[in-house]
Amino acid sequence: MAGKENQSPHPLVPGPANGTYVRTGDDEAGRGGSRELRRQKRKKYLLYFVAFVIFQTGVILIFTMTIMKVRTPRFRVRSATFDAFNVSRQPPNNRTFNISMNAQVGVKNANFGRYKYQGTTMTFLYRGSQVGEGVIQKSSVGWRSTKKFNVAVQLTSDNFTSDSQLAADLNANILRLTSQAELKGKVALTFIFNKKKSAKMNCTMDVFLTTEQLANISCD
Ligand SMILES: *[C@@H]1O[C@H](CO)[C@@H](O)[C@H](O)[C@H]1NC(C)=O
Ligand SMILES: *[C@@H]1O[C@H](CO)[C@@H](O)[C@H](O)[C@H]1NC(C)=O
Ligand SMILES: *[C@@H]1O[C@H](CO)[C@@H](O)[C@H](O)[C@H]1NC(C)=O
Ligand SMILES: *[C@@H]1O[C@H](CO)[C@@H](O)[C@H](O)[C@H]1NC(C)=O
Ligand SMILES: *[C@@H]1O[C@H](CO)[C@@H](O)[C@H](O)[C@H]1NC(C)=O
Ligand SMILES: *[C@@H]1O[C@H](CO)[C@@H](O)[C@H](O)[C@H]1NC(C)=O
Repeated sequence: MAGKENQSPHPLVPGPANGTYVRTGDDEAGRGGSRELRRQKRKKYLLYFVAFVIFQTGVILIFTMTIMKVRTPRFRVRSATFDAFNVSRQPPNNRTFNISMNAQVGVKNANFGRYKYQGTTMTFLYRGSQVGEGVIQKSSVGWRSTKKFNVAVQLTSDNFTSDSQLAADLNANILRLTSQAELKGKVALTFIFNKKKSAKMNCTMDVFLTTEQLANISCD
């Protein structure tokens, strides 16, 4: 095998540098008069060609299954800090919260191409009622990377009417929140090939009122 490989590149390599070399090489084979040798050579090249086609098909298959595969970006709340923490526990009917939160949000793009998304709003729900919202600016995430940014959210109990439920949660010192949002955008896999892809956020998390911390974040 090694000997055959050495034979074939030799007449080919000087070819482009000096055209006559290729011709003399061919002539030599012809002068040798061995049609059998030429046939074997042709057979060998055909084999190389078939092997090359198989190899190329494999490369294209792997390429489409990995690099060109479009994955849904992961969009979630990673952590949060709090600026103002105002919780009123006065009974009756004057239990409120008014909390300034800085949520750190992450968009993880596992694609081999940039993900560009439009601006959207992220809403925070407490027991099914909207208690706050944050603005997400139009931007983009590089290929196979995670973009992290902060979103300011004012959480207020204005929309929440069940005093008894709020009283129970304030006594337990835990507010369980849900955050929802949808990013709409495109994955640019090559210069010409764009694929629309939206990423939904659906996270639940606990605001611990005594420690003023966010914990137990879990996202779909
Ligand atoms: C907290 O809220 C109560 C009533 O909701 C208000 O009277 C008080 O001034 C607020 N405190 C701060 C520090 O915002
Ligand atoms: C609730 O309590 C605050 C003081 O923390 C008071 O200023 C406000 O008037 C009360 N509101 C109601 C509806 O009782
Ligand atoms: C909540 O607090 C912010 C400042 O931290 C204040 O501007 C806003 O009026 C408060 N909202 C309510 C309903 O108390
Ligand atoms: C209350 O709910 C409405 C609609 O559901 C929403 O537009 C508004 O922003 C909410 N208020 C707060 C303080 O989240
Ligand atoms: C969000 O996830 C929870 C479970 O984690 C599920 O019960 C709920 O239906 C989901 N909501 C949406 C809008 O997907
Ligand atoms: C939430 O977090 C607290 C402390 O961080 C932990 O004790 C508790 O088990 C967690 N709950 C859930 C449902 O994960």
